[in-house]
Amino acid sequence: MDKEHIREKIEKLRKELEYHNYRYYVLDDPVISDAEYDRLLRELAKLEEEYPEFQSPLSPTQRVGAQPLEAFSTVTHTVPMLSLQNAMSVEEVVEFDKRVKKLLNINDVEYVMEVKIDGLAVELVYVNGEFVLGSTRGDGYVGEDITQNLRTIKSIPMRLLLNPKLPAPERLEVRGEVYMGKKEFLELNRKRELTGEPLFANPRNAASGSVRQLDPRITAERRLNIYCYGLGQLIGMKVNTHYQILDYLKQWGFRVNPYTKLCKTFDELISHYNFINSIREEIPYEIDGTVIKVNRLDYQERLGTVSRSPRWAIAFKFAALEETTVIEDIIVSVGRTGALTPVAVLKPVVVGGVEVSRATLHNEDEIKRKDIMIGDTVIVTRAGDVIPEVVRVIKEKRKHVKPFRMPDKCPVCGEKVIRPPDEAVRRCININCPAQIKGRIFHFASKRAMDIDGFGEKLIEQLVDKKIIKDVSDIYNLKKEDLLNLERMGDKSVQNIIDAINASRTRPFARFIYSLGIRHVGEHISAILADNFKNIETLMSSNEEKLRSIPGIGPEVANSIVLFFRDTKNRETIRKLLDNIRIEYKKETANKLQGYTFVFTGTLKGMTREEARLRVETLGGKTSSSISKDIDYIVAGEDPGSKLDKAKKLGLTILNEEEFLKLIQIS
Ligand code: IVH
Repeated sequence: MDKEHIREKIEKLRKELEYHNYRYYVLDDPVISDAEYDRLLRELAKLEEEYPEFQSPLSPTQRVGAQPLEAFSTVTHTVPMLSLQNAMSVEEVVEFDKRVKKLLNINDVEYVMEVKIDGLAVELVYVNGEFVLGSTRGDGYVGEDITQNLRTIKSIPMRLLLNPKLPAPERLEVRGEVYMGKKEFLELNRKRELTGEPLFANPRNAASGSVRQLDPRITAERRLNIYCYGLGQLIGMKVNTHYQILDYLKQWGFRVNPYTKLCKTFDELISHYNFINSIREEIPYEIDGTVIKVNRLDYQERLGTVSRSPRWAIAFKFAALEETTVIEDIIVSVGRTGALTPVAVLKPVVVGGVEVSRATLHNEDEIKRKDIMIGDTVIVTRAGDVIPEVVRVIKEKRKHVKPFRMPDKCPVCGEKVIRPPDEAVRRCININCPAQIKGRIFHFASKRAMDIDGFGEKLIEQLVDKKIIKDVSDIYNLKKEDLLNLERMGDKSVQNIIDAINASRTRPFARFIYSLGIRHVGEHISAILADNFKNIETLMSSNEEKLRSIPGIGPEVANSIVLFFRDTKNRETIRKLLDNIRIEYKKETANKLQGYTFVFTGTLKGMTREEARLRVETLGGKTSSSISKDIDYIVAGEDPGSKLDKAKKLGLTILNEEEFLKLIQIS
């Protein structure tokens, strides 16, 4: 096939994948199977690899997350991203409506009501229909460039869906809210609990932490989504109403919230607000109210802005989900890493339709900070609608209270507890503590680790209490008889478990590393380690220096890994595991530029700067925008700038375009 045909083929595949991506992530109505989608994606990836000159950052293959950045650069918003005034009651909305009508000097105004999603505001810039820049709101005037991270959110189109009636405007700035769903948030925290990582307080913090991440691969792992609700600058086309904007956004392939309503009267506004409030619990993401916007854009313009908020819109907030109750006791639970967590036992209370009887108090510093005692009357909220939390103590109601002290001994095994000087958490130091053993086994067998189906909490509890298993390696020596004697275990269920154990005897390297439950080593770090070590033996004998030289591995993680493998008991367990299981290792990966940093200067003929950068990063290399002695290669295109002179002075290696192309070709 000649080059032109290849280019056409690639373009056709991209269009097809974009369409199916839209069906799946935006409409939630796929028309092909996942397997078929993957097949198309692989076909495209293969072509792009063979013909790197056709690579593009907009390609569906580029949604997996590029290499980490050193820092975000800043973006000045063309049109400031304003914030909203709040209304807490119907009366305040009446005031708003009156003011609008008075200022416009009319009696009837149409409004659009939308839900107010609790996430973070972003701006997406499209030039001639292509996604070129994504940023955070920042202070409303200047935000951060998070383009690479937003590319990993599959419901954000990289190219607009076009039709003859709705072409691409010259420049389109779309605004929307990136959020994490309630279910996704709970799952993420559950995982973090298992790996001993700090938990996110609510979905908004989780979304914001995931988007303002220097490593886009982490963003790609977090299940984020977006709803778009407005525009910044629009060049090359005209619109008259807000509702029309939302309609266009939908047609271009953006997600627009389904609970949006055009309200012709004030009563319609109130009843739609009441409706949304009544279904708030069932909505799979957090909302903290609704937003009311004047529909006509000429009216919006006439109303204008005062002190950073538009006069044409208002947030109509819901009452917070808070209740008063009493802390009856504070108990301490012990996790897999030995961490002791104080938990408040509450007099049961219904918060936003759900009964709450426990609330995490995080750690002793938090208890001190909030001055919480047993017997206190407190305000509890389901922070982020999901995790119950103690907001504050009602001091006026304090009567017979007892201060709480964290125990010096583990409440499960009675061993000593220590608090490392730089940590907020106390830990039980006995790695044979039943709570820790159970936690480790639970993690080892969990779905994303060794995936032993049916090996759940109840079963582990019994096996450890009866001393049938003492560590994860004992799982593989379990006999049918061991299981048959346990509660609620029939022939069939025992056979299922034995089968599941046998099925887990072969697992990929990354999963195996993850299943060991090394502190700070979650799925992402496990994948990096698996990519950078030939086998488990080389990983076990690695040192901090080597580990820290791997992009994405920081000093704390490196230290934790070395400590883990230095421990004789851990080594013994791994040795026993290796007698029973087979680790699947990857074939040589194309990490040929690993450890090399590139700087580009001047114009390349065959590809854009962005494409060149992506190419280097795909091959494991890094890119930088400034020259220093740490740079390995300077790639000089046409009309190179002062960077080339500086590079020459420093005696760095300079490549022309042809030499660069040769270097990035995978042999
Ligand atoms: S409109 C001038 N619409 O609320 C218009 N904002 O306080 C400003 N938000 O920063 C934004 N859902 O993060 C708008 N449907 C919605 C929204 C929404 C959530 C957030 C957004 C913004 C903040 C305004």
